[in-house]
Amino acid sequence: MRELAVQALSSVERGYDLLAPTFDRTPFRTPDRFLDATAGALAALGPFEDGLDVCCGTGAGLRALRPLCRGSVTGVDFSAGMLARARAADPAGDARWVRADVRAMPFTEAFDLAVSFGAFGHFLPAERPLLFAQVRRALRPGGLFAFPVGAPPAPSSPWYWAFAGFDAALRVRNALWRPPFVMYYRTFPLGAVRADLEAAGFAVRLTPLEEFGRRDDGSPRCRLVLARRT
Ligand SMILES: C[S@@+](CC[C@H](N)C(=O)[O-])C[C@H]1O[C@@H](n2cnc3c(N)ncnc32)[C@H](O)[C@@H]1O
Repeated sequence: MRELAVQALSSVERGYDLLAPTFDRTPFRTPDRFLDATAGALAALGPFEDGLDVCCGTGAGLRALRPLCRGSVTGVDFSAGMLARARAADPAGDARWVRADVRAMPFTEAFDLAVSFGAFGHFLPAERPLLFAQVRRALRPGGLFAFPVGAPPAPSSPWYWAFAGFDAALRVRNALWRPPFVMYYRTFPLGAVRADLEAAGFAVRLTPLEEFGRRDDGSPRCRLVLARRT
């Protein structure tokens, strides 16, 4: 509890530095089934040359990138602690780990594929245009930015209220405490995200990840966003 409290009162970067040693045992690390479903859907669009994992954390996304990319694989994150774990856990040892804020990445037309998992809650809606512009700049013309997005839970689901409660608690915390810890579950709606991607210069397509099934209304529980740099 003490550890969690200290993390919750830190900045995002410092919070992840503190969480890094145990991160892979938390539910915040993207489960392999999401990584494998993403890799499966992208396999038909590849192979790719150079791949980038945006907000790579301890390196989960490399499980998806490695089989898809014939060239280099790179993870970028601003937490030195998370990157240290990623480097230590990289079995092949040939990935590049870059410490940078993804709102100001040091890459220009360097990758054919960019992926991101479990990190968009750390960006306010107003930051999305900058974030997407940075990813676009990192991609070569025609490059692909891909990430899975889950369907929002219905108000009848306990998850709806859990996410709403979490977001409300963090808004109160951020109104009262500096530095802010930006992490919201309900600030990444697909319609607005798609519009921001298109405005940033991507052609956007969605594909269902059928592994995760369908909701009662027939819509997919999880989709892969495929944003191609135009
Ligand atoms: C929930 S973790 C996800 C890590 C990994 N992608 C995964 O799925 O397991 C979110 C990661 O985003 C990183 N992050 C958040 N905001 C960032 C920013 N502005 N620039 C770089 N990294 C950021 C954090 O340091 C953290 O490692």
